[in-house]
Amino acid sequence: MRVLVLHAHPVAESYNGFLHGLIVERLKAKGHDVDDCNLYAEDFDPRLTREERLAYHDIGPNIEPVKGYVERVQAAEALVMSYPVWNFGYPAILKGFFDRVFLPGVSFKMADGKVKPCLHNIRKVGVVTTYGGSRLRAVLVGDPPRKSVNRVLRAIVKPAAPFTYLAHYDMNRSTDETRQRFITKVGEAMDAF
Ligand SMILES: Cc1cc2nc3c(=O)[nH]c(=O)nc-3n(C[C@H](O)[C@H](O)[C@H](O)COP(=O)(O)O)c2cc1C
Repeated sequence: MRVLVLHAHPVAESYNGFLHGLIVERLKAKGHDVDDCNLYAEDFDPRLTREERLAYHDIGPNIEPVKGYVERVQAAEALVMSYPVWNFGYPAILKGFFDRVFLPGVSFKMADGKVKPCLHNIRKVGVVTTYGGSRLRAVLVGDPPRKSVNRVLRAIVKPAAPFTYLAHYDMNRSTDETRQRFITKVGEAMDAF
């Protein structure tokens, strides 16, 4: 499959940086055609500009400032995302990617004022993420990062596309053992992707 890997972490030597490398390596080893989009390394600018907001609904011209990224999203058959949980959401650079690239005419269309998702070229999704806090703490606030993936993103891509959400909670109290166990789990998931 042609897999777009979206990675968001500023430190290449971090745990998430390591997971990103592992994801790319294991997908490639299984013969997938990987487009590795490392947002910090590519210096992606997450700010939707005044001009982009004004042209947001002009299908066609609206993609011009991010045409290369739109083409990469539209060429993908599957999406794998790798990022830490920050403020119970995506890191700003990844949120900004959705704001600027998941545009009308790209990920959804408007029909009679209603949103009609259309990112149907994406037929499989994998997410690898880490939380500083415990699972209980996340659940007590409704685990927004998990819902953003399993509810919001799920509604945008091909209906019934399989989703895998892999999370290492409680990174603040993680040990070599828990981190290694998660690395094994991620590796196996990418082998089976
Ligand atoms: C800016 C920032 C915001 C964070 N917000 C949260 C949060 O809302 N919930 C949480 O569980 N952990 C939060 N964390 C902890 C990160 O999830 C944790 O540092 C990360 O998963 C560890 O992975 P890393 O070593 O690869 O960065 C935050 C960390 C940072 C730097």
